[in-house]
Amino acid sequence: MEVFRIRGGSPLRGKVRASGSKNATLPAFAAALLTPEPCVIENVPDLSDVRFMAEILQHLGAEVEDLGSGSWKITAGDLSSQAPYELVRKMRASICLLGPLIGRLRQARVALPGGCVIGQRPIDLHLKALTNLGCAVEVDAGDILVDAKGLHGADLFLGGRHGSTVTGTANALMATVLAPGVTHLESAACEPEIADLCRMLVAMGARIENTGGHRLTIHGVKSLGGCHHRIIADRIEVGTYCIASAITGGDVSVVGADASHLGAFLDKMEQSGLCFDQQNGSLRTFIDPSGLRPIELTTLPYPGYPTDLQAQACALACIGPGPSILTERVYPNRFMHAPELSRMGAEIAIEGSSAIVKGNARLSGAPVMASDLRASAALILAALAAEGDTWVQRIYHLDRGYEVFDKKLRSLGAEIERLPADALPETIQSNPSELGST
Ligand code: EPU
Repeated sequence: MEVFRIRGGSPLRGKVRASGSKNATLPAFAAALLTPEPCVIENVPDLSDVRFMAEILQHLGAEVEDLGSGSWKITAGDLSSQAPYELVRKMRASICLLGPLIGRLRQARVALPGGCVIGQRPIDLHLKALTNLGCAVEVDAGDILVDAKGLHGADLFLGGRHGSTVTGTANALMATVLAPGVTHLESAACEPEIADLCRMLVAMGARIENTGGHRLTIHGVKSLGGCHHRIIADRIEVGTYCIASAITGGDVSVVGADASHLGAFLDKMEQSGLCFDQQNGSLRTFIDPSGLRPIELTTLPYPGYPTDLQAQACALACIGPGPSILTERVYPNRFMHAPELSRMGAEIAIEGSSAIVKGNARLSGAPVMASDLRASAALILAALAAEGDTWVQRIYHLDRGYEVFDKKLRSLGAEIERLPADALPETIQSNPSELGST
């Protein structure tokens, strides 16, 4: 296992290129299973989650070729309908294999993905949708078993207690593009990653109306063909660099950012003292001369403030004036970063589904543990603003979703090194058997 040593205090400056979106790539790879013809997917980020997905597709019988420079070719000839636990447990997003397997093969056996530190992540809405589409669904020995011989179009409502479901919408879409009849998806997730999936499916020959909206209409077709599809820029990665710029008092431009996907984020951050300048496809961030202001935000499904940028905003709130209030409406317990930020000198109280951040903290470097992808990013951002050295452990969480994060940060002037675990000072070496579950 590797660790990061970060020495804080250098303002980040310069330009960095946005990578392709992880959360658009994973369903796009799954969608390639809907046709025996080759699909070429471009702007794919080099991430461990993408490699996990490629491995699962290969296990299912697809040919998966990394063509280099972010292009991948997937040809799904003869397929198996079974995705076993050993592979699925590595990545929750493998749940979005259900839709294409059902659409293409009319049957699927996909292992339930298991627990997750960011909170309960049930799949009841996925299963309800499949049942309404005429599938027989049962859970057997930890696997979801679907018999989809009776698959047909239907009217589906996809809203739940916490709003719409992103991968649930992806599954329903991929199951219905090849289902006989017409499907109306009400309360569909309208995240840019879902609109991107619709774009790919339409390029493959699917008939989908109102893409990007909350009410999608799908006219099932008999078969789909191959496509060339370019993945959108990763809006969460872009937002993370905007906060990295502000938290270090720097001036960073993200090239290839699509600011139209970041409306609520830009609005909240502007209210909190960040300035943005959009020019020629790049998004520049610096702090308003009057300084930072307290942050008040609530995470919501798109177009609301994204939950995947809450932990990073929490890191910023620690150094700005307080009190800041960050409320989670998507994952009410997604505050695993708070105790680790407190170890660096932040004062954060969790009350229900809100983090109350006192602010004006002088952060100091400390050994910290990453608990999940976005918490890892938040700790690294805090470390960049802290005095002294921070050691971040369990950085494999970060490698799941940020392409060459340390290299990109170094190109902006950050002092961050990726080191083998045995480089940790002896006083902070942890015994692997003591590590909690991830
Ligand atoms: N939910 C249900 N029942 C369901 C499905 C979801 O109650 O059947 C609840 C969840 O528990 C949560 C809310 O609905 O409270 C939203 O969950 P959603 O299904 O939308 O999340 P997801 O599809 O599993 C994707 C992203 C997450 C991101 C969320 C929310 C991918 C691969 N993952 O997850 O990304 O946080 O949408 O935007 O697209 C990340 O990248 O760090 C990450 C966790």
